[in-house]
Amino acid sequence: MSAEPWVPADGSAERSTDGSAVESTGAVAGHGAVGDITTHNPHLGNRLGIDDAPAVTGTTIDGRQVHVTFTDGVCRTFSSQWLRHCCWCPECGNPADGIRFTTVASFPADITPAAAQTVDGDLVLVWPDGHRSTYAGDWLAANAYDHEARQRRAAWQPITWRSELTDDFPTVEWADASDGDAGQLDAYRLLRDYGIVRIDNLGTDPARTEQLANLIGPIHETTVYGRIYDVRAEPVAKLGAKTGMAQAPHIDDAFYYSPPGIDVFHCLVNTDIGGMSTYVDGFAIAESLRHEEPTAFEALTALPITHVRRHPGEINMRSRSPLIRLDEFGRPSGIRYFDRALGPLDVPADEVDRLYDAIRAFSDRMASPEFTAAIRVEPGQGVLIDNHRVMHGRTAFDPASGRHIRLCHVPRDEFHGRLRELSLRLDPWSHDQYLPQGS
Ligand SMILES: [Fe+2]
Ligand SMILES: [Zn+2]
Repeated sequence: MSAEPWVPADGSAERSTDGSAVESTGAVAGHGAVGDITTHNPHLGNRLGIDDAPAVTGTTIDGRQVHVTFTDGVCRTFSSQWLRHCCWCPECGNPADGIRFTTVASFPADITPAAAQTVDGDLVLVWPDGHRSTYAGDWLAANAYDHEARQRRAAWQPITWRSELTDDFPTVEWADASDGDAGQLDAYRLLRDYGIVRIDNLGTDPARTEQLANLIGPIHETTVYGRIYDVRAEPVAKLGAKTGMAQAPHIDDAFYYSPPGIDVFHCLVNTDIGGMSTYVDGFAIAESLRHEEPTAFEALTALPITHVRRHPGEINMRSRSPLIRLDEFGRPSGIRYFDRALGPLDVPADEVDRLYDAIRAFSDRMASPEFTAAIRVEPGQGVLIDNHRVMHGRTAFDPASGRHIRLCHVPRDEFHGRLRELSLRLDPWSHDQYLPQGS
């Protein structure tokens, strides 16, 4: 297997050379141009290059709206200023490289096209100043903001789990997970859907830790862990991780404003006695609280809890954030709870007891066997964990056993970005789904 299993240029390079994607803008393969500037990104314009996407069949201007009909029989409506703003022609520039000349300041709010027509399955608009904009059917269908289009993008839901995950643990072979193709997309999807995936037959070469991380993104260095952290018992422990003590499930470094995104664990040595890995799905607890303890759920989504970490003279971290973060649809987008790093609560006096009750309701579920999946991670296995959703812990082990796990972190947005790019190539109508943006 190559040292760099992720090949980011793969899909985009294909699309830039297939003709259709670059013809309309005149870009050369692999590169584009904006005026006199040669740019790294090919100018794809308002075109995704999706096979079998609906094409534009007709259009009418209706006041400040433009109605567009497609070969899939759907009529989609767009605001004129939205269309003018979203023109990604070489003259307007493209968000892809941030070389962009058209902003909201470039046109009046009441702009409407002077003419609208259909050309070879594309929508072409001519603006009052003579500027021409071309939008491919796939780009319009993918970016439409009517109810159905937004429902499609909102369709992703996590697969929440409790202890039963132990017997059916999401697992992918390293050879598949690193194939740059369908196996890699499978691994990405398991991590996205379950918030956790085990990678088998990774091997025990320490160099594989970084290769596993690079499958989903670049390593995120922190003061607490450095780049790669060796989790093993040491004579003088700076962190609980470096003892043989049991570690209750927790979110790593919840005291950062943005805690590490994806935990990358690589097991080199384990022990037969103790050292079991435990996992709890924070989204499953949130779901349970929403239905069974709505008062607690409300408190945990509205009131901040405080996490702290201080190594004198070195770091002094403090975050204030709700334990359960909700997205615009009221769905959990992130969990943040590290009981051993919980600082003094700092909320209005009449909320303190209510917040403690709510934290206890969360903590009771977190500690219960019902919500806990437990597996023995064997040498040569890796585990990727969404640290803004799934809490991880371990049972106690003999510090003399030599148990050795390597740990590093990758930002969640880097992972989601690679997931989108691979999906755009292999399953384009899922590439732009709304994903939880974390805690
Ligand atoms: Fe941890
Ligand atoms: Zn333009």
